[in-house]
Amino acid sequence: MSQSKTQQARPADPCIMVIFGMSGDLTKRLLYPAICNLGSSGLMDPQFQIVGVATDASTTDSFRQKMKQNVKEFVIDPDSARYGEQLTDSIEYISGNFKDQATYDALSKMIQTLQQQKTNKNVIFYFASPPQLMRDIAVGLNAAGLLNEENGKCFRRIVVEKPFGNDLASARQLNHDLLALMDEHQIFRIDHFLGKETVQNILAFRFANALFEPIWNHQYIDHVQISASEVLGVELRGGYYDKVGALRDMIPNHLMQMLSLIAMEPPVSLDSQHIQVEKNKVLQAVKIPTRDQVSAMAVRGQYGAGVINDKQVPRYQDEAKIAPQSPTETFAALKLSIDNWRWLNVPFYLRTGKRMKTRTTEVTIQFKPGASSLFSDGNVGALQNVQPDVLRFNIQPNEGISLQFNTKIPGTTMSLQPVEMAFKYKDYFNVKPSTGYETILYETMTGNHLLFSGAETVELSWAIVEPVLEAWGSSEPTGFPNYDAGSWGPQAADALLNKDGRKWYP
Ligand code: BG6
Repeated sequence: MSQSKTQQARPADPCIMVIFGMSGDLTKRLLYPAICNLGSSGLMDPQFQIVGVATDASTTDSFRQKMKQNVKEFVIDPDSARYGEQLTDSIEYISGNFKDQATYDALSKMIQTLQQQKTNKNVIFYFASPPQLMRDIAVGLNAAGLLNEENGKCFRRIVVEKPFGNDLASARQLNHDLLALMDEHQIFRIDHFLGKETVQNILAFRFANALFEPIWNHQYIDHVQISASEVLGVELRGGYYDKVGALRDMIPNHLMQMLSLIAMEPPVSLDSQHIQVEKNKVLQAVKIPTRDQVSAMAVRGQYGAGVINDKQVPRYQDEAKIAPQSPTETFAALKLSIDNWRWLNVPFYLRTGKRMKTRTTEVTIQFKPGASSLFSDGNVGALQNVQPDVLRFNIQPNEGISLQFNTKIPGTTMSLQPVEMAFKYKDYFNVKPSTGYETILYETMTGNHLLFSGAETVELSWAIVEPVLEAWGSSEPTGFPNYDAGSWGPQAADALLNKDGRKWYP
């Protein structure tokens, strides 16, 4: 099979990247290795500079030594490791409390000094810090004058991780608070699913091919499933997860982004603003359930003990940092509908869960049956196994796209069997090991918002799940745990589709 190279872009714009939470897990496991991978691919400007801010009382020298160790441990590619080692020698470090204005004043001085040595005034502030500090950091930066873009002479951007708020009201408040300090174009709200090649490929598949778009509507599509199942439990994140749960953690962000890419109308261009407009339009068309409708369209679950990869794993309530009687859901499934012409009566089923049977993130599109009466009992003498055509976006693992269709089994009778045409990324493209953050970091430096969530998208997504959050928040779940670790989730999730005459894939 022929191998194509990955496309080579221009180096990112020069800038100083200030990382709040420099000594944390995210930086050492994902951000710094991603910077190293970009550097070894020739995508970093030679003037690129990192300033780390953290509460640890390290000195710059001891911090550089720590980073060198991290490179050894977390950067896989040898060229990237070489770039990373060199870069550590230029890292500056500020130890300080994120709620103390003195930290931002020290940062401001440091940036001024660095700017005397470098020729650019661009700065990116990356918040790799706990979400509750987002507002404090933005306020501190603003008070130190660090968000001023000098009438477009330079850029000053903030990059924030999810969760962006905890519900609709808090997301609105956060947007309001940040937008009082800076413009929307300065804010980059990360949804790391948008950095996944296979998620970006949904746009290419839909709009760069003539074949599918004409049938991408209610006349041909029966329903859509968007499923993100994980084998992992809560690992070391119990403290965070127990307050958040599966719905908040995955649905108003990652799954809703996938839904909008699948369901949106063609954008005027690939410009991020045009794409945001279309995503927002389709999210506005998602019917918001009433509180009374929640029990018929939403299912929650929590895992009990079970066996995964031949290993016994404990129930959720026995995991570290989880309350013994915790009512937090580790599984959520929703049935949504989109109130527009294209998606009339086409349900979108969303599902996500921890400790499930396999790690699979997939979008599945089931088409309506074709002229199957030809293959019914009367015509060919035996009841045929006519399956609907199914298109699958394998987001991860085994990244690719496949189409299931019916074919004749060789032999003297007209017997049918579903088979698959499959495209796998690994058959065509040489892709270096990556953390998934490379594209995201690169786009923050080039100023492209395509892979980030806009203020309105975030609020629209929270609005869709708000009645479910309210209903679940006001009534204790019964029968938790209700699925075994290593299974496909609670029976009620199967029933959600079965009552419509459908079932979950795979
Ligand atoms: C994160 C969630 O946003 O996404 C995690 O907080 C989840 O709970 C993770 O495990 C899934 O991401 P990925 O890229 O591993 O599928």
